[in-house]
Amino acid sequence: MGDMEAGAEVDIWNYVFGYVKMAVVKCAIELGIADVIENHGSPMPLSELTTTLRCELSRLHRIMRFLVHYQVFKEEPIGQDSMGFSLTPLSRRLIKHGEKNMVPLILLESSPTMLAPWHSLSTRVLESGDISPFEAANGDDIWSYTEANSGHSDLINEAMACSARVTVPAIIEGCPEVFDGVESLVDVGGGNGTALSLLVKAFPWIRGINFDLSHVVAVAPKLNGIENVGGDMFMSIPNADAAFFMWVLHDWNDEECIKILKKSREAIPKSKGKVIIVEAVVEEDNKSDELGFVRLMLDMVMMAHTDKGKERTLKEWSYVLRESGFTRFNVKSIRAVQSVVEAYP
Ligand SMILES: C[S@@+](CC[C@H](N)C(=O)[O-])C[C@H]1O[C@@H](n2cnc3c(N)ncnc32)[C@H](O)[C@@H]1O
Repeated sequence: MGDMEAGAEVDIWNYVFGYVKMAVVKCAIELGIADVIENHGSPMPLSELTTTLRCELSRLHRIMRFLVHYQVFKEEPIGQDSMGFSLTPLSRRLIKHGEKNMVPLILLESSPTMLAPWHSLSTRVLESGDISPFEAANGDDIWSYTEANSGHSDLINEAMACSARVTVPAIIEGCPEVFDGVESLVDVGGGNGTALSLLVKAFPWIRGINFDLSHVVAVAPKLNGIENVGGDMFMSIPNADAAFFMWVLHDWNDEECIKILKKSREAIPKSKGKVIIVEAVVEEDNKSDELGFVRLMLDMVMMAHTDKGKERTLKEWSYVLRESGFTRFNVKSIRAVQSVVEAYP
């Protein structure tokens, strides 16, 4: 057997059981394993973990054996002859109220509503695949479905907020100059205002407008320095020095993006205005950084979860910006899945 053949013999099992890691991590989140170990403050023996979580010992042992294998938790000696579980950098991201926790994003992506569309991905790829997998599975497009299901809306808003808590600090650290001279900023599709609140805190001269669909801003918290405005970005966008779009344009096809971007040009001053786009830029030349695989995964997520959304290459971003009437743009890499694109009227 050649090396590649032998590799395939192993790799194929990752596809057979690809869902297992997600499912077991979801189970760990639901049980609150990381939170309990964090509260314990030192390596926690299985017996104590079992009692605190009120679990069945041998089943919890099997779950922990799996998670230790994947370095979600680790085992450390306690005294001479016993062992206890402690956190790793990975399980720190599973502490529910931890600063950079990814819990809401994992719970969203592993929810039945978001998993069901994957069963009709192949149907979508066919020439006849007019209906999005999300609509085929859930009966409506994602934004109408979300409007009608407040539980799912909360799940999306929380998931976006947790990703914002990871991405916005990378923007603030990687390219703070983007916000120089920006006195007012409208976050279009800003969800519950988390991204904007972090930006306004870092750049206190900014007056923020959090703009999203009415049902989203209706439940958004009232934050200092931020006005919540409800509306439809296809109709009009509130005026500001700059319009900010994070993980919004990838939900839409080129024609829709061009419509939204033209509306954003109307909202900003021609002389000093700009649009700031925080999105993945898919590499064309296989020269990606270590997060390149996430951008390709996100592109598949767009195919499954949105009507016509997609992740874009530099060439594709250039096309939608030019067609929307922007005269120039630049792209800044940050330590995140997304890059920051500044576009000028
Ligand atoms: C993927 S979320 C991104 C949220 C946020 N920008 C972030 O990254 O944390 C997309 C947002 O676009 C909003 N949205 C969808 N259609 C919209 C419309 N027509 N007008 C305004 N916002 C819209 C959704 O409600 C949702 O909050």
